[in-house]
Amino acid sequence: MRILVVGGGGREHALCWAIAASPLCTKLYCAPGNAGIATVAECIEVPAEDVAGQVALAVNKQIDFVVVGPEVPLAAGLADRLAEAGIRVFGPSAKAAMLESSKGFTKDLCKRHGIPTAAYERFTDADKAAQYIRAKGAPIVVKADGLAAGKGVVVAESVDQAVEAARDMLSGNRFGAAGASVVVEEFLVGEEASFFALCDGEHALPLIGAQDHKRAFDGDKGPNTGGMGAYSPAPVFDLATQQHTMETIIQPTVRAMAAAGTPFRGVLYAGLMITREGPKLFEYNCRFGDPECQVLMMRLKSDLLPALLASAEGGLAHFDLRWSTDTALTVVMAAKGYPDAYKKGSEIRGLEAAAEVEGVQIFHAGTKSDGKRVLANGGRVLSVTAMAPTVEQARERAYRAVDLIDWPDGFCRRDIAWRAVGRTP
Ligand code: AMP
Ligand code: GLY
Repeated sequence: MRILVVGGGGREHALCWAIAASPLCTKLYCAPGNAGIATVAECIEVPAEDVAGQVALAVNKQIDFVVVGPEVPLAAGLADRLAEAGIRVFGPSAKAAMLESSKGFTKDLCKRHGIPTAAYERFTDADKAAQYIRAKGAPIVVKADGLAAGKGVVVAESVDQAVEAARDMLSGNRFGAAGASVVVEEFLVGEEASFFALCDGEHALPLIGAQDHKRAFDGDKGPNTGGMGAYSPAPVFDLATQQHTMETIIQPTVRAMAAAGTPFRGVLYAGLMITREGPKLFEYNCRFGDPECQVLMMRLKSDLLPALLASAEGGLAHFDLRWSTDTALTVVMAAKGYPDAYKKGSEIRGLEAAAEVEGVQIFHAGTKSDGKRVLANGGRVLSVTAMAPTVEQARERAYRAVDLIDWPDGFCRRDIAWRAVGRTP
């Protein structure tokens, strides 16, 4: 099969790495890809968001199967356009991608189907939002309805901060149309986990859980980012919690989407709060998490490609995937300044030595090659990933590799998996 992976981050490097290992794959392209992806796939300079460009590329290269990494092209209808062109695709239609592209859509679906989630209201009027916030009190959470690259959520400690956030979003200044409507919801107390399930429109196949670190600095301090590190398994997300999540959250969602005539095909990524009353959904994404995908691909022992194909074509009902019981852990190395302004173009050295550490795979998140040199080309730049029998060993290996990387312009957190270290599952 001739395969095209859309995207160019650490998630897409991990997907390409897994797909390249499949005996079914005869030729692998990635667009736009990056310097690391170029070692396993032929990279082509088409931006992930360029829907028409990606479709044209798939047609020109006679692609049999397209795997879409990020949410933006999915929300813009890339899967629909590929289907119209007769090309098989992993990833949901634009209508099904609304589970990610509209938080209000998902909240209303949860309410209609009794799926556990935080209590909420939707607003387009700032004064009405303010009234609700004052009535509920703080802490309280304000979310822009649409896609905002992970920046559209304000967990407000005070009523004033929440009112201000809602006004800011609804003014259209900060998020444009994505903020034209907001969700105001109850603050959930618990531990967060990410859980993934492959869906074929009718059936859902559980993958595994992981835990992400969204804040930029150690001790979960600093601004929210796309994710500074992840690990799997996460002790908080045990098998019983997984089964409960499948029954009360994932399966009802898949049934509801099918009944609405917008079946969900692709990977459903549930952002969960594990509360005292059990898991509650705080968001859906319609794609793999980054950097969670990197740890998932490390633990996956089966061939990924047939599973992605079954998601696209149906047939997940009797599918089975095997996972390593080892822990996989990834440390993201980001450009200094990320998630705010940062520089591009500095050289990264020592990657070969780092990749030789036992159990380590280095996924590139934002790099480009310049002859033999590898240059930083994004906010999140590397995802240094390690596997080992225990979380402590995986962490030691990952940081040993990080310390062999010579990149003065970068930084990383030193405490990835702090919740799991020393805790018996
Ligand atoms: P989201 O973009 O929905 O993933 O939210 C970003 C972050 O905000 C999450 O990772 C949580 O840490 C936090 N968050 C979102 N919703 C809630 C909630 N209802 N209660 C507490 N924290 C939340
Ligand atoms: N790791 C968070 C995300 O992919 O949205």
